[in-house]
Amino acid sequence: MANLWGGRFTRQTDELVNDFNASISFDKRLYREDITGSMAHAAMLGETKVLTKGESEEIINALNTMLRDIDEGRLAITDDYEDIHSFVEAKLIERIGDTGKKLHTGRSRNDQVALDMKLYTRRTIADTDALLYELLRVLEKIIVSGTETVMPGFTHLQKAQPLTLAHHISAYFEMFRRDRERLIDTFERMNYSPLGSGALAGTTYPLDREMVAKELKFKGATANSMDSVSDRDYLIEYLSDLSLIMMHLSRFSEEIIIWNSDEYRFIELDDTYSTGSSIMPQKKNPDIAELVRGKTGRVYGALVSLLTTMKALPLAYDKDMQEDKEVAFDSIDTVQNCIRLFTGMLDATRFNEEMMRFSASGGFTNATDAADYLVRKGVPFRDAHGIIGRLVLYCIDNKKTIDDCTLDELKSIDENFDEDIYGEISLKTCVDRRVTKGAPGEKAMKEYLSDIRNYMEKNTPISIQEIKLISGGN
Ligand code: ARG
Repeated sequence: MANLWGGRFTRQTDELVNDFNASISFDKRLYREDITGSMAHAAMLGETKVLTKGESEEIINALNTMLRDIDEGRLAITDDYEDIHSFVEAKLIERIGDTGKKLHTGRSRNDQVALDMKLYTRRTIADTDALLYELLRVLEKIIVSGTETVMPGFTHLQKAQPLTLAHHISAYFEMFRRDRERLIDTFERMNYSPLGSGALAGTTYPLDREMVAKELKFKGATANSMDSVSDRDYLIEYLSDLSLIMMHLSRFSEEIIIWNSDEYRFIELDDTYSTGSSIMPQKKNPDIAELVRGKTGRVYGALVSLLTTMKALPLAYDKDMQEDKEVAFDSIDTVQNCIRLFTGMLDATRFNEEMMRFSASGGFTNATDAADYLVRKGVPFRDAHGIIGRLVLYCIDNKKTIDDCTLDELKSIDENFDEDIYGEISLKTCVDRRVTKGAPGEKAMKEYLSDIRNYMEKNTPISIQEIKLISGGN
């Protein structure tokens, strides 16, 4: 392995040490960030006259070509180097000789890797956000078409009160909307460039850190050089954001699995998103939802792993921090794939409106509304609760719903019941009576629909699109 040191060493590093120490097998995915950061550094070195204009331009041109060569498969990133930083520098020197040796002036791999990870995080935050936006679009579609689809709402997985599919799905809309806000928040807080912090104590060259920051579209340069090279807070925040996304996806997946079961049949997953069994011919399994639910574990694991890696690390850079990459890369890939698959699966799902309505009509989901009816007739709520409790018991004993009872039967339980009870506890009335903000009633839902339409129009992922332009696609 070609090492970046030598002067101080009289003997070669052991091969096992090289393997253990190396990160190129996984940090090669940072090549675009590394080269982009190096170009900004080289431009600044030219501008501040640390290098001549000619040298700076020669380096930038060579880096540009290198980027294209890697992108287009003419230059392979091999494992003969310790990390992506050594690789890029070595190739640069191979290509332009001594001028290439000047690129690392005033820079350390410590601020370099800090920059690369920040560029990568920014780019993938933008990608994750765009994926969430697509998911929200599918949710919006289901919400808009599901305002009349009555279904039971559950607490303790027991039928509780009637609501609509639109209302149920809106709950997930809110979760993923918050997830987007969290991503943007993480993005805003981390959006400062660490480059120019050197190994830990800045540099003796008159580097223009703000210039580099501006070139790379950061809000500015970080404030303390030791913090700059040892800060991985933003990655931990990002992993926490990703964990919450997975938590939400896993809850949704769980409901999809339940709703798709033969016992519920609220939905039918499309064949394209289902799998069969090797032995049981009748099976159509919700494997995608189960895998999304299952993959939540490794994302939580990554969060705890990095928190633990960073715990008690003395300032400034320590090699422990190299452990940030594999867990972060794996989590980012996992979450992006999960959102992508989940969105496709949901978009292809058929909702069985009849089953939902049928299910809502059983299980006494209108019992609270029957109690509210008595309250409107002047009965105190606590007494009404007791009366309806007795009525439900009577219905269970006689195998009927409240709606099935004759007026005589109802009156035998409480004389306040009248003919109007039937209309008052119909599923439609039960839903539409729920008028408070955030409730499933027609009026509240109308306001909610205009809220989310507005949100979707104003909050397209374009707000961080600019960032994607710097470090390119995948
Ligand atoms: N591969 C290293 C990492 O990911 C890069 C920084 C190495 N710095 C050093 N002083 N060894 O953290």
